[in-house]
Amino acid sequence: MNDPASAPADEPPGGPAADPLPTWRRLAGTSVLLDGFHALKHAVRFGAEVPVAVTADRAAALALADELAPDVRDRLAGLLQEVPEKTYRTLVARPHPTAVAALAVRPSRATNLAALAHTPRTAPVVVLDNPRNLGNAGAVIRLAAGFGATGVVTTGTLDPWHATVVRGGAGLHFATAVERLEVVDLPPGPLFALDPEGDDIRGLKLPDDAVLAFGSERGGLSAELRARADHLLSLPMRPQVSSYNLATSVAMTLYHWSAAQGTHRAL
Ligand SMILES: C[S@@+](CC[C@H](N)C(=O)[O-])C[C@H]1O[C@@H](n2cnc3c(N)ncnc32)[C@H](O)[C@@H]1O
Repeated sequence: MNDPASAPADEPPGGPAADPLPTWRRLAGTSVLLDGFHALKHAVRFGAEVPVAVTADRAAALALADELAPDVRDRLAGLLQEVPEKTYRTLVARPHPTAVAALAVRPSRATNLAALAHTPRTAPVVVLDNPRNLGNAGAVIRLAAGFGATGVVTTGTLDPWHATVVRGGAGLHFATAVERLEVVDLPPGPLFALDPEGDDIRGLKLPDDAVLAFGSERGGLSAELRARADHLLSLPMRPQVSSYNLATSVAMTLYHWSAAQGTHRAL
């Protein structure tokens, strides 16, 4: 957690005149970029360690905090250091409308793996089997955070901590456990793989320790994941529609899990 104990609540660490750029340059290569106010707000809320945060307009950023995040307003005030607009633009690939950017420490793989492996599990793990689209992965992490899922595991080459995924996830990587794993190393628990050819998901209760797997945008589920699956489930879909978007499929499935607690028969 951030605790800039030496600075008054409304002042950034080191005082208003301190230069955040040396810290930024030192950490940029190894840290998670939080791009925009909302990503920073979520990361701080969920306990991320944020060594440096900048804005091109501190008053505007704090006004947003007053309006949208009073719970972390003082912590944001203690973190955000104002830099010239020109400087801010050199720190990010695409300037964000809120002109806020920060660097956070990525949680250790060991910590995430322990969270994913922990039993008894009280909420499912979502598996994206070889996803291709960074925006989809970010949207799924945001969903997982919203539903309180245990974590999101990706297989394949996509980096689930890529800056574009973090941007799509609105900084909610810090609210769930996000890691890349091989199919053989997936966390324990009954594996439900979602596929348009599976059994209708309606009427089934997904257990809290479920591992919910979704295929890639183009190719669907890999042979390796299918071989490992305990159940193949489909989401209701009218004939002649081939499939849903990956992230919306995850949304429906997590909603089904959350809404059906105690109301349907268990598998
Ligand atoms: C865009 S779809 C993949 C479409 C791909 N052409 C295929 O052959 O499956 C991405 C993933 O979303 C999930 N999905 C999409 N529509 C679904 C449905 N009606 N029922 C179950 N899962 C679905 C599956 O996990 C699927 O692999």
